[in-house]
Amino acid sequence: MSTRSLAKDQPASFAFNADYIAQAKRVIAKYPAGRQASAVIPLLDLAQRQEGWVTKPAIEEIAKILDMAPIRVLEVATFYTMFNLAPVGKTHVQICTSLPCWLRGSNDVVRACKEKLGIGMGEMTPDGSFSLGELECAGACVNAPVAQIGDDYFEDLDHASTGKLLDAFKRGEKPKAGPVIKRDSSAPAGDAITLTENPAPPQKQDFAAAKAAFEEAKAEAAAKAAAPKA
Ligand code: FES
Repeated sequence: MSTRSLAKDQPASFAFNADYIAQAKRVIAKYPAGRQASAVIPLLDLAQRQEGWVTKPAIEEIAKILDMAPIRVLEVATFYTMFNLAPVGKTHVQICTSLPCWLRGSNDVVRACKEKLGIGMGEMTPDGSFSLGELECAGACVNAPVAQIGDDYFEDLDHASTGKLLDAFKRGEKPKAGPVIKRDSSAPAGDAITLTENPAPPQKQDFAAAKAAFEEAKAEAAAKAAAPKA
């Protein structure tokens, strides 16, 4: 796991803009009075969407808004890898390297990123267009290995497909999120291996014949009952 600490160079101040203040108020209003600290994650997310990363002044401002000790906000910001603690590129590429993704080849995905972008983990391209980071379990292990690019997950990656994906981003395209292989969401990969044949159609019922057989059996039983006992 990468070290999670605040960047050395920090801006002098932070303030939510009018739009984000309105959004922050809506989030805080969802929680009962005295429980506004529950809004810490959404507010950190808003600060990151506004600035591109979570700054120290933003942490202090959020602590003030939510009436929390700044260290409590810092703890949350440094725990969750979704929060960038340093400036990131316009396209921020994060690769999940936790165990299931590693077992399914995340090393190859990381290698492809380093080759294509020419940067290492935690670095940004000189033009600021791409940055590369590590992600703890993205919660999509069934589609491992996984990359998060912006708000989207790209799944079932390997070295070749990661290269193609990054080429598409470099061309300014917005590739479709989700599995990059033939797979529907997290359904089994490849073609179906069960229920592959159509079941035989149901037999047509001959109700007239069934009714006749029933009437015959009924008459037989009645005749038997009426016959004199020996
Ligand atoms: S380990 Fe990568 S998504 Fe869970």
